[in-house]
Amino acid sequence: MKRRSLILTLAMLVSYLPIMEANSHEDGEHEHTPLEDQMSAMNKAWRSIRRQIKDPSKNESTLELVAKVKKAAQKSVELTPILAKEKSGAAKEKFMAGYQKGMKRTVALIGELEAALKKGDNAGAEAIVGKINDARKHGHDNYKPADD
Ligand code: HEM
Repeated sequence: MKRRSLILTLAMLVSYLPIMEANSHEDGEHEHTPLEDQMSAMNKAWRSIRRQIKDPSKNESTLELVAKVKKAAQKSVELTPILAKEKSGAAKEKFMAGYQKGMKRTVALIGELEAALKKGDNAGAEAIVGKINDARKHGHDNYKPADD
């Protein structure tokens, strides 16, 4: 009996091994860049901000979300997009300068968004959300891999 259960346990273990290996392989396959991590952090909060920006009764919660986006955007200024690795010399410098300018402008716009919400100016805040969306589109068109 004892021997049978030992054999069964071993058989189960062996049959699980390829699955475990497949899973760990899958996890390792998608390596996130530090910039992707910050972008993903921004994205979730940004979606909620867009949904509730018009609603003054949600301004307190919107401000908390804006603080999260601001923190991630500030960290992003110092990070390097994956496409920069394909460049060198003057082309790389130009690429990085453009990226940092776009990201800094976004941080500044997020500051304006905070100020408008603190004043209770939801119409103004909504207009700034539009500008940040434009900055995001421009940033992604120019500095993010197309297939991402
Ligand atoms: C509210 C503003 C923004 C949001 C919500 C946002 C969101 C995202 C998301 C969801 C990704 C994909 C992340 C992943 O694949 O895991 C991404 C990637 C990226 N974003 Fe943004 N983004 C914003 C603004 C910007 C701006 C202003 C720039 C540049 C000036 C920018 C540059 C990039 C780059 C370069 C990547 C690719 C990541 C890499 O190269 O490592 N993003 N962003």
